[in-house]
Amino acid sequence: MTTLITNIRQLINTREQNQLLRGKALADLPVIDDAFILIEDGIIAEYGAMYELELKVPQLPKVIIDADGQLVLPTWCDSHTHLVFAKTREEEFIDKIKGMSYAEIAAKGGGILNSAAKLNAASEAELFNSAWQRLEEISKLGTGAVEIKSGYGLSVEGELKMLRVIKKLKEKSSLSIKSTFLGAHTYPVAYKEDHQGYINSIINEMLPVIAKEKLADYIDVFCETGFFSPPEMETICQAGMSYGLKPKLHVNQLNSIGGIESAIKLNAVSVDHLETMTDGDVKLLSSSNTIGTLLPTAAFFLRMNYQPARTLIDNNCAIALATDYNPGSSPSGNMNFVIALSCIQMKMLPEEAINAATINGAYAMELEKELGSITIGKKANLIFTKPIPSLAYLPYSFGNNLIDKVMISGEFI
Ligand code: NIG
Ligand code: FE
Repeated sequence: MTTLITNIRQLINTREQNQLLRGKALADLPVIDDAFILIEDGIIAEYGAMYELELKVPQLPKVIIDADGQLVLPTWCDSHTHLVFAKTREEEFIDKIKGMSYAEIAAKGGGILNSAAKLNAASEAELFNSAWQRLEEISKLGTGAVEIKSGYGLSVEGELKMLRVIKKLKEKSSLSIKSTFLGAHTYPVAYKEDHQGYINSIINEMLPVIAKEKLADYIDVFCETGFFSPPEMETICQAGMSYGLKPKLHVNQLNSIGGIESAIKLNAVSVDHLETMTDGDVKLLSSSNTIGTLLPTAAFFLRMNYQPARTLIDNNCAIALATDYNPGSSPSGNMNFVIALSCIQMKMLPEEAINAATINGAYAMELEKELGSITIGKKANLIFTKPIPSLAYLPYSFGNNLIDKVMISGEFI
């Protein structure tokens, strides 16, 4: 099936070639005014300015859609979520309002352990159904590709159950999905006094089955004071890498304890969170191929300092933006709000935020060959905006839903 979309007021993020954007290049967002796009079997086949249409598309297809002045851009690439979970955690939200800290809530069995207890009690079908609804919700908000982590199982059965749910989501959803094994999210109650025992379970009991059933693309570790140390992270990642899982890691959310250095040594695809960065961390990241993934809604929700986006960009680090969608620190998978916060609170330019949420997000999931920009041969995953005066209006008018329609693989959802 061939579809031609005409009269697009601005076609945004058009790129002939792929490039991971860093430094000044992050602000360079190519746009074609008064444009068309041609889609064949779900793939972008041609695009250009309306005045080039006759030349580039000599034979018009039967299906022609008039975009009537809408802006069209690639769908968001959300490269960090935990959107498979059993229950929401509003009670902790209230505890926090009353003054309890994240660490205090975790210490009294709340936090990740609370989610783990609920997840282990839930069936695979229940988990699938609730996660499916979340996927539907985020796709309507413009997300076309998403990474999903395990990490609320914290037992052999629980972790495998979560990863099997993610595998099923991958099979059934039209969104592009990547799966990450986060067995090392925290130490489960049973191994509170036996950290090595749990690491052994990850390495000897979980990883072999995950590899055999092809349940994950990446391996993740929550590297933080009171959770996993950099040497523990290295041990776990080395084991994952021996099965072909590349590291995508939680580091520097609460403390800077050497996680960045270890992650770069491991050649991690990305280091995620980065609320707490030293000058040394920034320097290391800037001279590496590892992407820094910023999760501003987690900082917002936990009332923490935002990630130092400006410092990272100005020091030539490659950064992406993601939601961290999870019940504890970011109960929202809305990339539009992530982009608005990035501009409002982290002083990113709208162009920088959109690049970080599309092409760089695609790189952070190694999906850059199929998604993240308007490029011939990539999937036609597109956002059609409501009538808005300019691109900058997207983050400016925060909290409003400015998306009219979303197309995934050439089909409106
Ligand atoms: O990315 N920081 C670790 N993990 C999650 C939060 C998990 C939770 O509280 O359930 C995060 O913010
Ligand atoms: Fe996370």
